[in-house]
Amino acid sequence: MAKILSIVGSYRKNGNTARVLNLLHEDILNKAERENISVEIETVFLGEFNLNPCRGCRCCFDRGEDTCPLGDDDLNTLFKKMHAADGLIIATPVYVNDVSGLVKTWMDRLAFACHRPQFHGKSALVVSTVGTGIHGYTQDVLAAGITSWGYHLSGKLGITGGALTPQADLAARYQKPIHRAAEKLVTDIQKENHLRPSLRSLVTFAVQQAVWQRHQDEDTVDARYWHEQGWTKPSTRFYLPPRTQPIVILLTRAIGRAIARFIA
Ligand SMILES: Cc1cc2nc3c(=O)[nH]c(=O)nc-3n(C[C@H](O)[C@H](O)[C@H](O)COP(=O)(O)O)c2cc1C
Repeated sequence: MAKILSIVGSYRKNGNTARVLNLLHEDILNKAERENISVEIETVFLGEFNLNPCRGCRCCFDRGEDTCPLGDDDLNTLFKKMHAADGLIIATPVYVNDVSGLVKTWMDRLAFACHRPQFHGKSALVVSTVGTGIHGYTQDVLAAGITSWGYHLSGKLGITGGALTPQADLAARYQKPIHRAAEKLVTDIQKENHLRPSLRSLVTFAVQQAVWQRHQDEDTVDARYWHEQGWTKPSTRFYLPPRTQPIVILLTRAIGRAIARFIA
């Protein structure tokens, strides 16, 4: 059974973003039925969760996420749902060329996972909807965030929908890209394509590995985490053993080590 957590980053429960997700879910479930795969989708509306904005106290970075002073809100519930799923769809309306405030709060509160990646082994699809503008920056923010948490980036889907577009019109206009994104996400989960990381993910891992190898004797939450995962061992090539050609590992590792020289 593959589980997908689908997060709607808009307060509008029947807005463009939710409508695009309805279409995506339909295509995902159709593929699952066609190919006799068991897929379960859980949709959550971020607006229904009590998420307080990060205050920048750094407790999660320095003492562990369990010490967050905002810990009695709903972040932990979401965090557990993310861990329980094999795949993630994170969808946001574009607000002033960026993710919505709801999504930014969710990302900021999970910033500790950039230091201690924990969603390796999972694939994620990034979705944005705009009135008339551009998707690039918003999708880059989302993609950079989730890949630094360890997710395999399955794809990016951008939909232009004005203020509010009927679902049937969205379906007619965006049938192909929605279908492609749905098929790719299911395939990535099913074929474990997170074990075929992108060059960027391999370089990011190599940079972090070189930095934590340098700091491995430090008694910090981050250094301990990297050590306990076995990621500071020279033989470790990625969060999980990748199906990647050794030459590619050598190359990305060399690039990562060169970049790591400029990081304290
Ligand atoms: C506060 C606010 C800011 C917005 N900023 C932009 C923007 O910068 N560029 C754009 O093309 N559309 C912008 N829009 C339009 C929304 O991105 C677009 O209508 C989106 O599909 C709404 O999704 P929803 O119905 O799921 O909330 C904005 C809408 C709001 C309410």
